[in-house]
Amino acid sequence: MITIQVCVGSSCFLRGSKSVITEIKQLINQHQLQDQVILKGNFCLERCSKGVTVKCGEKIFSGIATKDVRDLFEKEILPATKHFYNEAKGL
Ligand code: FES
Repeated sequence: MITIQVCVGSSCFLRGSKSVITEIKQLINQHQLQDQVILKGNFCLERCSKGVTVKCGEKIFSGIATKDVRDLFEKEILPATKHFYNEAKGL
């Protein structure tokens, strides 16, 4: 299980956090990870000047554009869910 928080504070919202959320939702659905990923909004992750900020587990990423979401998903989110899946199966 991994929690993803996308900042929807005013600065991040104006820089496109809504489309980042849409892209993450699509990838969660595409990979059928609805039961392994919690997607939340956050009202400020205190990196307002750095672009859309996304927190994956305990890691924080700034300057995320819609085009970066797939890469972030593959590098940070998918491995966390696979780890969870393998642990659950005792692998
Ligand atoms: S508004 Fe997004 S980090 Fe502050």
